[in-house]
Amino acid sequence: MGIRIIGTGRCIPENILTNDDLEKMVDTSDEWIVTRTGIKVRHIADKDQTSSDMAAVAAKNALDNAGITADMIDLIVVSTVTPDYAFPSVSALVQKKIGARKCPCFDIEAACSGFLYALNTAYGMMASPLAYKRVLVIGAEKMTSLVNWEDRSTCVLFGDGSAAVVLENDGNPDTPDFYVAGEVAADGEVSDLLIVPGGGSAMPATVESVTGKFHTIKMGGPKTFQLAVTSMVTACRKVLEKSGVSPEEVVWAIPHQANRRIIDAVANKLGIPEKVYLNVDRYGNTSSASIGICLDELNREGKIKKGDLILAASFGAGLTWAALLIRW
Ligand code: UT7
Repeated sequence: MGIRIIGTGRCIPENILTNDDLEKMVDTSDEWIVTRTGIKVRHIADKDQTSSDMAAVAAKNALDNAGITADMIDLIVVSTVTPDYAFPSVSALVQKKIGARKCPCFDIEAACSGFLYALNTAYGMMASPLAYKRVLVIGAEKMTSLVNWEDRSTCVLFGDGSAAVVLENDGNPDTPDFYVAGEVAADGEVSDLLIVPGGGSAMPATVESVTGKFHTIKMGGPKTFQLAVTSMVTACRKVLEKSGVSPEEVVWAIPHQANRRIIDAVANKLGIPEKVYLNVDRYGNTSSASIGICLDELNREGKIKKGDLILAASFGAGLTWAALLIRW
């Protein structure tokens, strides 16, 4: 069909929170964090820096990288679990901040799997009779706005950031699509494993909900770990099977950067540990920005060339998981 990724961008906040800093806040150690998660530092947004601020910077960088202007965008899809507001959407704020013309825009909430859900959705809308020509897909997260800084089992894991890609349909049937095969999945039966209980219609903000820290992340870590490995491996295998591509043909594997041990387990089960791209040590878990940040780093560092096959996989609250085989 001719739908390609023509540009990537990211926004990484300047402030850095180290493991040494966290040692001063909770009963933890650099040794525990590095051994159990692989994380060394994470970037933290300023108090007044919102998800849409970071999304707009990532979007502008992606547009520059693509060599196009905001007024050429036909649709904006943002993935986030940390919107600036319940409404309006982050995508509407991005439309205004980058000066895109009045194109449709909406947010997707599939937690850490959101970027791959958004790419699947955008591709579907471009390939459908809607026929959008250029689409901006963004993952933007201020995860630290949901962190309980007194809970050592979660506060060491997350960081902030945003990433964007520009998709374009060049209308040339001889141009291979970036989308080779995809898989999106969910299991709501285990939705309480990873949850922010407060702030929604189930528990609107009250003095008790705030003092009880119900507006922060609660996670069953070990069970989530186990399901993350099995679901990402299953999704990757399905995508490889659907596409008829062998693991050997994959040039880069980009797993969601939540925990180095999860990444290693997935890569070893798929037999592709040497193909894995890693930056969890520098950013921690940036939820739906994670895979886009990896893609942008690979792109800007010239580590991917036209035609390379990239296998991305993610997992998050919902529970949701997804895999996507991308042809560069
Ligand atoms: O983004 C998608 C979703 N999220 C994930 O994929 C995260 C999945 N889960 C994980 O990455 C891991 O389960 C964690 C990193 C969260 C935890 O690692 P773990 O190896 O599963 O540790 P654990 O929860 O089994 O805890 C082991 C011990 C416990 O102490 P006891 O009970 O054995 O005395 C914890 O209290 O480690 C303790 N612990 C810590 N110790 C020092 C938990 N957090 C910390 C900490 N520093 N930060």
